[in-house]
Amino acid sequence: MKILVTGGLGYIGSHTCVELLQEGYEVVVLDNLSNSKEEVKEKIKEITGKEVKFYLGDMMDEQLLNNIFTTEKIDAVIDFAAYKAVGESVQKPIEYYMNNVSTVLVLLKVMTKHHVKKLVFSSSATVYGDPEKVPIKETDKTGGTTNPYGTSKLFVEQILKDLYKSDNTWDIAILRYFNPIGAHPSGLIGEEPNGIPANLMPYIAKVASKELECLSIFGNDYPTKDGTGVRDYIHVVDLAKGHIKALEKLEKESQGLYIYNLGTGIGYSVLDIVNAFEKVNHVKVNYKITNRRSGDIAECFADPTKAKDELGWEASLGIEDMCKDAYNFILKNKKD
Ligand code: NAD
Ligand code: UD1
Repeated sequence: MKILVTGGLGYIGSHTCVELLQEGYEVVVLDNLSNSKEEVKEKIKEITGKEVKFYLGDMMDEQLLNNIFTTEKIDAVIDFAAYKAVGESVQKPIEYYMNNVSTVLVLLKVMTKHHVKKLVFSSSATVYGDPEKVPIKETDKTGGTTNPYGTSKLFVEQILKDLYKSDNTWDIAILRYFNPIGAHPSGLIGEEPNGIPANLMPYIAKVASKELECLSIFGNDYPTKDGTGVRDYIHVVDLAKGHIKALEKLEKESQGLYIYNLGTGIGYSVLDIVNAFEKVNHVKVNYKITNRRSGDIAECFADPTKAKDELGWEASLGIEDMCKDAYNFILKNKKD
């Protein structure tokens, strides 16, 4: 089977390319390198001994997409291409809706034209807004997103539902990721945020490696076990494997639109993560408690039962692996 992976040189896309190649899929990547580097292609080859076919270009480019579908005989698409910085999305809503929603419309139009109707889409737990209860099930209420990034994911989910309603020969898996962290154990690929990281794990890793001075813990007065925010952190390699299981479902089942939470089902607090990181990597992480970050919620973790029952997928790597692999990647790629 030949899979088009949009945004395939990014953080989650590159790990998914590795798993796809290792499972024997042929992989075609389209990426505009707006948040990744071409050298990732070589790292994927180093890990797997196999190559992806790479197209440098933008998903808004309908002609390029048409060329790819004509030339490559694509069987299914995994769509990772999007912008993902929550704070930036508030400053640049047009760019975010354009890149996260309009691109999907172009892709769906071209897929329809070429009769390719199998799609795996990267959504996010952010679509649940501030959840009424945890653990969160796929049937729980969505909405109440507080930024254009989150709303862009909600919009695309709605577009995909409307598309399926209009034509039930589509086969669509919407995957709602919780908090992906960690890196490939080789240390060759991982998360490389531009500038100062906005998310917890890359920030911790850079404090530990002395690139940053001190972690600010955003609030210790939440109604959680130690007052700090609780999240469902998932190792990016486990997450990547979830995409293979989703593709397998689309290959063998009759058509449908399926929605899955991809998380571990375990909620860890910020202090849990700091402590685990220090313990497993034998390093000190300086931190101070500061005010809450606006828009943050107290607790968010998945009920991953549906993915286990229907996809046969569950996360196998624990918090120690996540902390170890995240730090290994930072150390291996530290710029002196
Ligand atoms: P990333 O920024 O590392 O990867 C996205 C890739 O898409 C990059 O390589 C970028 O260059 C490319 N890209 C962006 N716009 C493009 C366009 N118009 N045309 C072609 N290529 C384009 O992000 P990631 O963390 O790997 O996230 C992948 C997907 O998962 C995104 O849709 C993101 O919203 C979603 N997601 C991520 C997280 C997370 O915490 N990382 C959580 C939930 C959902
Ligand atoms: C963030 C996004 C969310 C996105 C998710 C993807 C925001 C508001 N939300 O979620 O839309 O889907 O990333 O992974 O950005 N924390 C600190 N200090 C820091 C950084 C984070 O204490 O320097 C805390 C946060 O308050 C939170 C936890 O760590 O309790 C996790 O934060 P983060 O990694 O940014 O992820 P989310 O906020 O869950």
